[in-house]
Amino acid sequence: MKRLGALVMENTLAYRLWQAPFVAEKLAPVLRHTNLASVRRVLDVGCGPGINAPHFQGKDYVGVDWNPGYIDYCRARFKGTFIVADITRHDFGTDRFDLILVNSFLHHVDDASAGRILGQLGPLLTQDGRVHIIELVMPPTRSIPRLLARWDRGDYPRPLADWRRLFESAFRPEVFEPFSLRRLGVRLWDMVYFKGRAR
Ligand SMILES: C[S@@+](CC[C@H](N)C(=O)[O-])C[C@H]1O[C@@H](n2cnc3c(N)ncnc32)[C@H](O)[C@@H]1O
Repeated sequence: MKRLGALVMENTLAYRLWQAPFVAEKLAPVLRHTNLASVRRVLDVGCGPGINAPHFQGKDYVGVDWNPGYIDYCRARFKGTFIVADITRHDFGTDRFDLILVNSFLHHVDDASAGRILGQLGPLLTQDGRVHIIELVMPPTRSIPRLLARWDRGDYPRPLADWRRLFESAFRPEVFEPFSLRRLGVRLWDMVYFKGRAR
């Protein structure tokens, strides 16, 4: 089930159909905790097929993903700069960003890589810049969200306490807000939103 899901989700259209209905709910805490008027440059780490891009229209938006199919799709449809790169190896030079978005990315990488990636992002923030992370939580008890987290193509949905440790190892925390994605009153995915500044 998990491997089949992974294959299907590599397809741009399948991914968008699956995730688009939830993007507004995932981004709601980011928008609630940000004064977008003061944001000029946005970096979207692991931007996928551009689901977040339309929410940052009018900003100098940079999306990075190592899947060339996703990036081709973004370039054809959205304003901004789209880069095919492995985020762990890409050199941003002197580029700095007011808002770095890491949406549903870190549950695809192990603890050591996640720590390294977050460590690289802090220095990319402007002085007033903030990182905004949205992640998939592994609930402790048997439930639909636990089943869906186990089926996710990412191998590292983490318990809340592990996410907190990981985020706070790289950033000074400002917001740590668990929330759930629901349909028809049913809790489907448990998520967490984190906002922080560079250490
Ligand atoms: C679950 S998707 C999330 C996409 C998007 N952030 C969203 O909110 O829908 C994770 C994305 O991370 C990308 N990815 C995984 N590892 C990466 C890496 N090392 N460098 C760049 N992109 C990576 C994948 O190609 C995929 O598009």
